[in-house]
Amino acid sequence: MKLDQDRLAQFDREGYLFFPSLFSADEIRVLTDEVPALYAQHRPENVREKTGDAVRTNFAAHLYSAPFARLARHPRMVEPVRQIFGEDLYVHQFKINGKRAFDGDLWQWHQDYGTWRNDDLMPEARAMNVAIFLDEVNEFNGPLMFIPGSHRLGVLEAEHDTSTTSYPLWTIGHDTVRRLVARGGIVAPKGPAGSMILFHGCLVHASTSNLSPWNRVSVYLSLCAVSNHIRRFKRPGYIAHRDFTPLQCLPDDCLLRDYEVPLPWKGGTPADELQGTLRAA
Ligand code: SIN
Ligand code: MN
Repeated sequence: MKLDQDRLAQFDREGYLFFPSLFSADEIRVLTDEVPALYAQHRPENVREKTGDAVRTNFAAHLYSAPFARLARHPRMVEPVRQIFGEDLYVHQFKINGKRAFDGDLWQWHQDYGTWRNDDLMPEARAMNVAIFLDEVNEFNGPLMFIPGSHRLGVLEAEHDTSTTSYPLWTIGHDTVRRLVARGGIVAPKGPAGSMILFHGCLVHASTSNLSPWNRVSVYLSLCAVSNHIRRFKRPGYIAHRDFTPLQCLPDDCLLRDYEVPLPWKGGTPADELQGTLRAA
C-alpha cells in the first residue's frame, strides 16, 4: 500500500491517517481468537487495571504469539510507515490494550515521544504509532482522541502521573490541552474491527474509560526508523525493545496462512529484559 501526495500532506498537517476496514473480518478473527489466552497468562507483560483483574495492556506479544508476530510483519501496515521514514523499521513497542467493557480505564492526555526521548534517549520523533482495531470502536467504548496538528509543536511540558491509572504516564496539563484544543479541536476516529490509524509520536492523544458493554481491544505498535534506535535501556526490554533488527515483511496473506515466524520469548521473558523502571508511554 503506497500513500499518495494528498495522504502524505494530510499526515504532515494533522498528524494522523485513518484507514477504515484495512484488514478483513477473517484476518482480525485470527488475532482476537488469541487474546483470551494471552490475557490469562501471569507474566510481567500483562499490566492489569487498578480496579481488578482485567488486563489494561499486554506487552510484546509479537515475541511469543505467532498471529501477532505475523501482524508485526504485515506489509499493509509496515510499508506506509517505511515510506514516510524512508528507511527500515524495528518494533520499539508492541501492546494489546484491553479497554474491557465496563472496566476499561482511561488514558490521560499525553504524547509518546516525550517518554521515548527522556527515558529511552530516542534521538528524534521518527517512530510511528500504529493502532489496529480488534473490536469495533464507537463513541461509547472509549475511542482514541487526538488533537489534530498538535504534533507540530514538538515535545510539550509533561507531569509524571503515577496515581490516576495502574500505569504511570507523563501527562499534559489541562491548561495546555485547553489551548491546543482551541486551535485544533478533538477528533476520535471510529470504525469497524480491522481499521488502522497511523499517528505521529508527538500527537497529543487520550481516551476515556469504557462504560459500554462492548470491549475495545486494540493493538498499538510503535515502529521506529532503525537509525533512530534508542540509546538508553532504562525501561524493561519488554516495554522499550532493545533489538533493532529491521522488520522483514511477510506476504499480504500472512494472517491467513501459517508462515513461520521466530517466537524467542515463548518459553518466558529473558531475565535481562525484565530490568528497569516501569514507565509509559
Ligand atoms: C488507548 O488505548 O486508548 C491509548 C493507548 C496509548 O496511548 O498508548
Ligand atoms: Mn500513547
